[in-house]
Amino acid sequence: MIYFLDTGDVKAIEKALDLFPVEGVTTNPTIIAKQKKNVIETIKDIRSCIGDDLKLHVQTLGEHAEDIVREAGILRDAVKGDFYAKIPVTAEGIKAMQKLKKEGFQVTATAIFTQQQALIAARAGADYVAPYVNRLDNISSSGIKVVEDIVTLIDRYDLDTQVLAASFKNVEQVHQVSLSGAQSVTIDPELYEKLLYHPLTQESVIDFIVDGHTYYNL
Ligand code: E4P
Repeated sequence: MIYFLDTGDVKAIEKALDLFPVEGVTTNPTIIAKQKKNVIETIKDIRSCIGDDLKLHVQTLGEHAEDIVREAGILRDAVKGDFYAKIPVTAEGIKAMQKLKKEGFQVTATAIFTQQQALIAARAGADYVAPYVNRLDNISSSGIKVVEDIVTLIDRYDLDTQVLAASFKNVEQVHQVSLSGAQSVTIDPELYEKLLYHPLTQESVIDFIVDGHTYYNL
């Protein structure tokens, strides 16, 4: 499974890139707003930090297809490199996705809560579909089940789209999604650290140091 960082915090991205295998960064307007800067400034800072080869998913804000297409062009021109226009799966969003794919854009369909939303976005040519696991779990639905179904449907209809599961709050959600066959997840850097943490690992490392330090004067 491939890991993306779901943040606009450049310091956190820098730290995580230094430690962990990461394929790219995803943002949304809420994440951008937390940086308290214009979106262009924030995404340029992220691009400088991650370089041109890592994937950068940036969401559009417009509600009409024409605005979504126009914004996608402005965002892509600002950051260049491996860029994905992230677009919510409204009817206008689906229209914009089809137009952007014809123009050669890479597209991520986002704000996905149902299997059919994902299937329609995949048919519209989306490179990634992003189902929101925690937001589904929070309304007594099953985020994992929706992800599993989307993986099955994409496989059954032999579509090129990949699943980029999003909206996570704990390690178990990420683990269950990794069993589903989804190709990737996007997570906050703090949650990435939690994926690695186990108290027995910490304890074992301390024991090794205590036992071995006399014999490891390398
Ligand atoms: C990422 O692409 C999504 O926008 C994000 O994961 C949503 O996460 P949240 O439900 O924690 O806001």
